[in-house]
Amino acid sequence: MYGYTRPFVKCGKKGYVMPGAFRKHADAIYNMKVRPDDIWVITFPRSGTTWTQELIWLVENNLNYNAARERPLYERFPMLETTSQIPEIAYEFIKANFMNLGSFQGLTEAARYPSWKMIEEMPSPRFIKTHLPLSLLPPTLLETAKVVYVARDPRDVVVSYYYLHKMVSKHLMRATFHDFWEAFRRDLLPWTPIVAHTNEAWVHRYHPNMHFVFYEDMIKDLPKEIRRVCKFLQRYYTDDQVKALSEHLSFESLRKNKNVNNTTGEENNGVQFVRKGEAGGWKSHFDEVMTSQAEDFLISRLKGLDLVYPSLENGETTHL
Ligand code: A3P
Repeated sequence: MYGYTRPFVKCGKKGYVMPGAFRKHADAIYNMKVRPDDIWVITFPRSGTTWTQELIWLVENNLNYNAARERPLYERFPMLETTSQIPEIAYEFIKANFMNLGSFQGLTEAARYPSWKMIEEMPSPRFIKTHLPLSLLPPTLLETAKVVYVARDPRDVVVSYYYLHKMVSKHLMRATFHDFWEAFRRDLLPWTPIVAHTNEAWVHRYHPNMHFVFYEDMIKDLPKEIRRVCKFLQRYYTDDQVKALSEHLSFESLRKNKNVNNTTGEENNGVQFVRKGEAGGWKSHFDEVMTSQAEDFLISRLKGLDLVYPSLENGETTHL
């Protein structure tokens, strides 16, 4: 229904859902050598990963917009587990079933050579993106390298995740949003469970090597969040430079930026990678029953945790 053709596996104590092929790569990823000058961005999919990657890459590269324009973001800042998303018949499968792209986030390259291996061989400094939670990553990661975790309201994530599925599969995705939400809240989709994923980083939010950021805060005040990232990375820029960077990172600008938005910039199945860019857009996708299911979902998943999503703090959800 979602276009997946292979069984998933549940990994680790929290039972993170991964494509079956992850089994072949999990050990190598867990045992990877982390370098002190690495910068890792960790997110649950559709939480503002791409936005944050472009921000970090530019901050670390002296705001060299020309260099950023020369290579796609997925090459400058590759994803660790791309290969594990690909079935054996990869190349043909991708061509047959996925959006008509030269490459989507390096999927075609990763079908030929493991993405984690390519990252292992990259020269320093490395920029690494992953959707894997901390518990499936090298245990030395936080002690060794800088980590940025981006979190987002799960209700907006599921909407965005649904549209991503629609966008990437040429004709396989037949689920309605309602079906998709059912699968999400039952932890049946890749990288779920989301709250556990986020909480793994949240508990380390005061660690000197961890920078924890909410998508909603980036939406609210991007220059402020840029300054926070700069401070974390110990890079200093003038107000004018920060202003220019926030303009470069604006929704309209990234939507047009083909090096960043992972697509040809065109719509596929009526969806673009940089799609809506809102906080709270979930409200127009959830009916009353789903809204109440989402409240129950959040209440039960957040029970016993001190994780607070900004959208819940602001009283947007009445019963939490
Ligand atoms: P929506 O689908 O809700 O619009 P990721 O990179 O982790 O896959 O996250 C994608 C989400 O981030 C999409 O959410 C996308 O539109 C949003 N996004 C990307 N660039 C953005 C920007 N400059 N401003 C606001 N949202 C942005």
